[in-house]
Amino acid sequence: MSNLTETESIASAKQRWQDGPVAKTIARFPEQREEFVTASGRPVERLYTPEDGVKDRYNERLGFPGMYPYTRGVQPTMYRGRFWTMRQYAGFATAEESNKRYRYLLDQGAKGLSVAFDLPTQIGYDSDDDMSLGEVGKVGVAIDSLADMEALFDGIPLDQVSTSMTINSTASILLAMYIAVAEKQGVTPDKLSGTIQNDILKEYIARGTYRFPPGPSLRLTSDIFAYCTENVPGWNTISISGYHIREAGSTAGEEIGFTLANAVCYIETAIKAGLKVDDFAPRLAFFFAAHSDLLEEVAKFRAARRLYARIMKERFGATNPKSQMLRFHTQTGGVTLTAQQPDNNVVRVAIQALAAVLGGAQSLHTNSKDEALALPTEESVTVALRTQQIIAHESGVTNTIDPLAGSFFLEKLTDDLEAEAEAIIAEIDRKGGMPTAIEQRYVQKRIEESAYKFGQSIDRGDRVIVGVNKFATDEQPKMDLFEVPEATTQRQVDRVRKVRDDRDEQRVTRALDAVGQAAQGDDNLMPPILEAVRAYATVGEVCRALSGVFGEYEESFQ
Ligand code: 3HC
Repeated sequence: MSNLTETESIASAKQRWQDGPVAKTIARFPEQREEFVTASGRPVERLYTPEDGVKDRYNERLGFPGMYPYTRGVQPTMYRGRFWTMRQYAGFATAEESNKRYRYLLDQGAKGLSVAFDLPTQIGYDSDDDMSLGEVGKVGVAIDSLADMEALFDGIPLDQVSTSMTINSTASILLAMYIAVAEKQGVTPDKLSGTIQNDILKEYIARGTYRFPPGPSLRLTSDIFAYCTENVPGWNTISISGYHIREAGSTAGEEIGFTLANAVCYIETAIKAGLKVDDFAPRLAFFFAAHSDLLEEVAKFRAARRLYARIMKERFGATNPKSQMLRFHTQTGGVTLTAQQPDNNVVRVAIQALAAVLGGAQSLHTNSKDEALALPTEESVTVALRTQQIIAHESGVTNTIDPLAGSFFLEKLTDDLEAEAEAIIAEIDRKGGMPTAIEQRYVQKRIEESAYKFGQSIDRGDRVIVGVNKFATDEQPKMDLFEVPEATTQRQVDRVRKVRDDRDEQRVTRALDAVGQAAQGDDNLMPPILEAVRAYATVGEVCRALSGVFGEYEESFQ
């Protein structure tokens, strides 16, 4: 093939390359696959050129970090100014056990806390409720009352640490308990920083820890927005999550499309409740997965930032720059972990964590190698944390901002993912909004279809999972696995019964009646819930006061 001349267009030169050297090589060495696709099944070209990348409109499509549309990052200096928060999701058994793990993680260099609650706490049942049997302290820490929350943060000054709480249906109750614990430490709410997940829509879509119907749930969400905007200004009032949507099997584009569609619903609900977008939007936060297709994941984060900035500016007229910034936490993909050859998971998590950092995440949880089998041991969670520390301190990728920008493939993928997500939001709009789309099971069905296609690609062998459908061995993993202490349930049951015996029962009754009254009206539910938890009303009791008015949600199977 004759050399390229500067006058020749790239398109025509690329065609000559395809017809010449490529065709000749393939005739003797065929490529390994007919079609190359990303983890989400998106076709990948053999080569990308300036014809595909950022040919023009740089300022409009990329711009600069810390400036609209934030494609390259939300902070002007990004990791040169401050690394992302190394924030390991943790919690199990009783509050004392979890408190020990939090202190260990902080001692090992973690910079933020992230509380995992057990399912009874997440869905609003006390540890001694029949509904809690077999689940107390299993997938997270058991929290029944303020007494447990005091034990959970014992010795951890709440004005010195930022805490994330993965709690949704009962978010208002656990946030109230956190504020009450801070009060007991002498810390006023304005000194608190952290995040409450408070994202009920994705629970209906993909995670399942819902309790109340959508209407009352969305009201509780907005009440938290309003209450924190006024009283807890440093608190991120929601973590709008794509993680669980992706874990349920969505593609990367669906992950950001459905998540941003949920954001649109929350923002519209808050505006309808009388809130001003620039008052509450600066404290909206997001949470995405990081899977193993590194370049698709980096493009996904950049596409999400740019699309969100445009939605906030163009659709909601937000003018406060902080309203337009998509700040997000990332967790490496739990579903990508394998039970087979668990050491391989350390490598997967490193690739996924690198994707999160190259994609500009503000906070990161790295999975442990044993988490396909059990909760992480201290040893495995330490390796997971060290993975982040090595990327931060040894890899060099934090020295400059958005280092992969300008890659022809990455910019094309960023454009394509933004377009895919935008089309998904338009489709949800056409269906009348996210609550309607969920009721119709449109979102759930799309995720199921993507999950099925992904599973088929593995079964066919098109997609290799090392150690599973290729390079497999009969080796049984030899690892000490973490076990939740057997005595947890009984200890927790004894404790919640003692709290009920010791408290001022009249004060609790008055407080729970006030919660029920407020639920029937339009007043913000946070103040009465705060009073109830200060009186040591339990999660289960407050939930019953609410469900007595709101009812309970039953999923419709259409
Ligand atoms: N220059 C100047 N300032 C900077 C900076 C820089 N380079 N980098 C950061 N900062 C500032 C920030 O502006 C911020 O200050 P502000 O609050 O006054 O704005 C401060 O430093 C802290 O920085 P971030 O806010 O970026 O970092 P945080 O860690 O505090 O917050 C977040 C990150 C994404 C906004 C927040 O919402 C968060 O921490 N989320 C975590 C959510 C989480 O952990 N979820 C776990 C869910 S587990 C789950 O659901 C899965 C399970 O079900 C399996």
